[in-house]
Formats: sequence, C-alpha cells, structure tokens
Amino acid sequence: MPTTLSVTIAPNLVLCNPVMSASGTFAYGVEYEPFFDIQRLGAMVCKGTTLEPRDGNPQPRTVETAGGMLNSIGLQNMGVDRLVADMAPIWAGWRLPVLVNIAGERVEDYARLARRLDGVAGVAGIEVNISCPNVSKGSMEFGTSASATQEVLRGVRGATSLPVVAKLSPNVTDITETARAAEAGGADAISLINTIAGMDIDAGSGRVYMGGLSGPAVKPVALRMVYRVVGAVQVPVIGCGGIATGRDAAEFLMVGATAVQVGTANFANPHACLDVLEGLVAFMEESGAEDVSQLMGAAR
Ligand SMILES: Cc1cc2nc3c(=O)[nH]c(=O)nc-3n(C[C@H](O)[C@H](O)[C@H](O)COP(=O)(O)O)c2cc1C
Repeated sequence: MPTTLSVTIAPNLVLCNPVMSASGTFAYGVEYEPFFDIQRLGAMVCKGTTLEPRDGNPQPRTVETAGGMLNSIGLQNMGVDRLVADMAPIWAGWRLPVLVNIAGERVEDYARLARRLDGVAGVAGIEVNISCPNVSKGSMEFGTSASATQEVLRGVRGATSLPVVAKLSPNVTDITETARAAEAGGADAISLINTIAGMDIDAGSGRVYMGGLSGPAVKPVALRMVYRVVGAVQVPVIGCGGIATGRDAAEFLMVGATAVQVGTANFANPHACLDVLEGLVAFMEESGAEDVSQLMGAAR
C-alpha cells in the first residue's frame, strides 16, 4: 500500500509530507542542496529575517552542552529587502514551500515585514518568531506575554493574506495562554518550541555564556508543550525540539502535532531532515499506518 503523507497546516498551505526544516538551522535552503534533494521535504523555514540586515552577536555564538547546544546568534540575517530580491526568486522555482521566519523589536516591525512579503513569489507563508525582545516594553520577550503575542499576530494577520504560523516561546509559565492568544490574533497554525533560555559556565575561567538551549535535551519539554497546546487550540500545531529521527517525529505526531520541524540535528548531520522523513515512513510501514493522519493524536 502506498503511504499517504500530505498534511494541511493552513487553509492554503498543503505540504506533501509533515517534515519541515526549523528556522536558523537550514539557512536559506540552497546551502543544503549539495547534501540531498531538499525538494523532498514538506516545507522549509528560512533564517529569522528583520527589516534591516543584522551582523548578529560577537563570537562565541554557540556552546555545546550535554544533549544539546546553547546559541545566541543575535539574528544575523540579510534583511528583508535582499531576501526578497535575491532569495525569493530562487525559491519561486522550487516545489518546496518556503516560509519566511520574521523577527522584530516593535509590533509595527512585524506588520511591516508581513506587508513587504505579501504577494512575493517564492514566499509560501510567514512564521512569526515572537522570542524577540520588545524594546517598547523593557526588552521583555513578546512571547512571554499573551497580550503582546496577540498584538503581534493581529498586526501580521492584518498585513498579509499569506498563511501565518505563530512560533511560540517556551519561556513561559503556561504555554496554553500564549497559544490561545496567538490563535485569537489570527494565526493559521502554531509552531513550538523555540529555544529554552539557559546558561553555561566554565568553572576554570568563571566565564559565563547565556543562550537558548536546543537539541535532544529539550525534546521532553517540547513534547509536553505540544501535547498541551494541541488540547488548547483548534489550529494545527507544528512540533519542534530535539527531533533527529523518524521515531521522534512520530512521537510528536502521536501527541497531536500536524507537522514537525528539524533544527539542531541539521548541524551534526546535514541529511537529518531526510533521515527524519525516511525514518517516519519506515515507522509507518512497521506500525501498519497507511496515512500519516492515523498517527496524529494516536497517543491522546
Ligand atoms: C543556531 C540556531 C539558530 C536559530 N535561529 C532561529 C531563528 O532565527 N528564528 C527562530 O524562530 N528560531 C530559531 N532557532 C530555533 C529553532 O528553529 C528551534 O525552534 C529550536 O532550536 C528547537 O528545535 P531543535 O531542538 O530541533 O533545534 C534557532 C536555533 C538554533 C540552534
């Protein structure tokens, strides 16, 4: 029996399979073309994009930890104008849908970015990264406040007819509050989790390092948050956090995710996204599932 893999993450965004690359770990896609046929993926999310180009933070920007890594890249990116001029025309020739991950410092930044991307050939959707400091509110992350989350999503929703995915921050007490706020603001889907705030210290030098934790270490946290959010909203949920194998992906689908994103695993293994896809198909064959929808929510 052929395996049916297609999933719908927004009314006008159907993916040929549920495996996506996560923002900031797959650059602009072209960098991974030498490794495998990236067109086989369900979708790609590009690096976080801001209104102006950014150089990012000084080195070191990444530190390896037990079971994962910390990063503080500082949103190094080419800026939306160059992305529209140089990258979107390449993506327009692909069958792989590309979502642009957007980041801002003010609610208006997000709306302006969404307006700039609206109708651009090669851009299939927008993922809103709300794990950014809100400069109008003492640099507290937008994503730690339900009202700021709703405001950002409402601004984006009003500025574009593209599918809009809200990417939630895990650095909150109750993830269902920000999930509901994102849905109320008009998100077509919700992705989670972004990195978990963490730090490292070198006992020898006393040097400390602050950053966002990702990789296998965060998977149990991500899985639980996805489970809870699926129970709290009506829109599709995209699971992300420590996914490196087809079995990991299957677990996120079983707790109710509609699709998954592969992040940190791409750094250790540039074929990780494809391995996850092929591993998921193998898992479905072993477990007798003919349609990926049979996995979705099977463990709820
Ligand atoms: C080096 C690095 C850069 C990232 N950049 C972004 C970004 O620009 N925008 C975003 O929303 N998430 C970004 N993320 C978060 C990932 O997309 C993902 O949500 C997180 O790492 C958890 O998934 P993982 O454990 O599979 O990596 C970044 C993660 C890493 C490790």
